[in-house]
Amino acid sequence: MDLEFYRPYFTKDFLMGPNSLRVLKELLDQNSKPLDADSLILDLGCGTGLTSFALCKETGAKVFANDLWISGEENAARFAAWGVGDHITPVHENADNLNFEKESFDAIVSIDSYHYFAGTEGYFQKKILPFLKPGGIALFGVPGIKEAYDIQTIELLSPWLEEEAWMFRSVRQWRKILGEYADMASVEVFELGCFEPAWQDWLAIDNQFARSDAACWENIIMPYTCFVGMIVRKN
Ligand SMILES: C[S@@+](CC[C@H](N)C(=O)[O-])C[C@H]1O[C@@H](n2cnc3c(N)ncnc32)[C@H](O)[C@@H]1O
Repeated sequence: MDLEFYRPYFTKDFLMGPNSLRVLKELLDQNSKPLDADSLILDLGCGTGLTSFALCKETGAKVFANDLWISGEENAARFAAWGVGDHITPVHENADNLNFEKESFDAIVSIDSYHYFAGTEGYFQKKILPFLKPGGIALFGVPGIKEAYDIQTIELLSPWLEEEAWMFRSVRQWRKILGEYADMASVEVFELGCFEPAWQDWLAIDNQFARSDAACWENIIMPYTCFVGMIVRKN
């Protein structure tokens, strides 16, 4: 995936936080069984759909782009403008209650979104895994807290995140939350390497959210947080 191709999209119109395409690229690079034009992918919590666009462009796959805060109509207009309207289907559903056929997807991807709704043990097994085909893969990237600080999350991150600080979990906490079940062939949870460049792309943007994050970068975000990657393969 050539990030330079997507640089025109690294703007306040499409980014909703640290650069989601850097996170997506790192996860796709680590996926040992590449996705292709025969694949069906669910992009869960896709926001403005930039990751759905890249998934479609990079793999040729058909993509379902699901989000809660952004309407299907708004994303449909963007996908049409980007020339991928016939490959990406926008969906407006809560991840807690998805209405797809079971075992539909070769991959379920979720970037900077999964921590909002899936932070309880058993969630993945009950709400997400049933929608993967046998042999399918889940690729998740979320902002988190470094393991060394995960017993002080609220104290360290509240000055920045206020009541959302609890959503930031460490690698070991996410491993426990995902759990181990007979239908999970493999589970990898690790810190992503793209943390700093993904943040720098976001902090360079001129919008009020990026500006308030910039005020916390040196003292909170950089020293205590990270990006956590999760890759789960279904049996
Ligand atoms: C910070 S934005 C990230 C969007 C996009 N993935 C990106 O990286 O630019 C978080 C997204 O999570 C989605 N989200 C939060 N809770 C959700 C839920 N329960 N079901 C589906 N999506 C949810 C929101 O709609 C929002 O677009």
